[in-house]
Amino acid sequence: MSQAKVNLPYFDKILANLEDEVTKTTFGNHVHWGYWENVNFAQNTAQDFAIAAEKLSQKVYQAGDIKDGFSILDVGCGFGGTIASINHNYSGVKLTGLNIDERQLNIARKQVEARGDNSIKFVQGDATKIPFPDNSFDVVLAVECIFHFPSRAAFFQEAKRVLKPGGKIALSDFVPTEIIKFFEPVVKLFLQDFGNKTYGNVDFLTLANYQYLAQTIGLNNFQVEDITFNTLPTYTILKQFSLLSNSPADQKTNNILEWVTRLGLLRYLILSTKIL
Ligand SMILES: C[S@@+](CC[C@H](N)C(=O)[O-])C[C@H]1O[C@@H](n2cnc3c(N)ncnc32)[C@H](O)[C@@H]1O
Repeated sequence: MSQAKVNLPYFDKILANLEDEVTKTTFGNHVHWGYWENVNFAQNTAQDFAIAAEKLSQKVYQAGDIKDGFSILDVGCGFGGTIASINHNYSGVKLTGLNIDERQLNIARKQVEARGDNSIKFVQGDATKIPFPDNSFDVVLAVECIFHFPSRAAFFQEAKRVLKPGGKIALSDFVPTEIIKFFEPVVKLFLQDFGNKTYGNVDFLTLANYQYLAQTIGLNNFQVEDITFNTLPTYTILKQFSLLSNSPADQKTNNILEWVTRLGLLRYLILSTKIL
């Protein structure tokens, strides 16, 4: 299938640097923030970050209540790190990774091999036009990627359609507090001048708007776990990576993100819901 148009500057950099050992260890498997049970023990090394990133994936799929034998769709699957983790820890699972970016999928296909009676496939496609029939999956996951999708509502509609009755959605996202409404022009400027240059097309949704979406789409209210504090050591690693890619713009983006997070304006949440 032809490569869809993607604007993911940070992935361009990761892909260009994957031969580099530190980049490979840090982002060659999971491309998301880390989770530290105790942030005082964070070691600020690539190896420690990789363990924390694995832990974050586990937190998200545990919120999806996955079980042996389930059919699971991981939307925005990156290099397949979450699929690899489920493959390692569960049996009889049918795992499907969906991603807009064929370059990432090619790496995932090389890196992740089904174990025992598990099956794995990686498919190119858009989260808002999921290329699978109705009632196909027990759980839909979206680890740290929903902010890129052209529409969260369209993604939830599609996730609901492909889920079996009683199926679950679990995801992680950067969620601004309500106060952000008063700073919308500043947020827009930040995204235009820095954020979009580092991370591509990104937008934010408040928790109240998430719950409103759930109601309109026919999903149960989102269950919420706030893990902001546990993710904070990620920023030290990101700043190291920005240095590695020698980009002052990336450093500014990550500094601003860190400070709005430390000020409590942006939270890192795990959200999960069941279809009604
Ligand atoms: C921060 S990365 C997270 C990757 C992966 N979930 C992980 O945790 O390692 C965001 C991912 O979203 C994917 N993505 C962006 N827009 C997408 C879309 N419309 N449909 C499917 N995937 C998309 C990107 O290609 C990228 O892999």
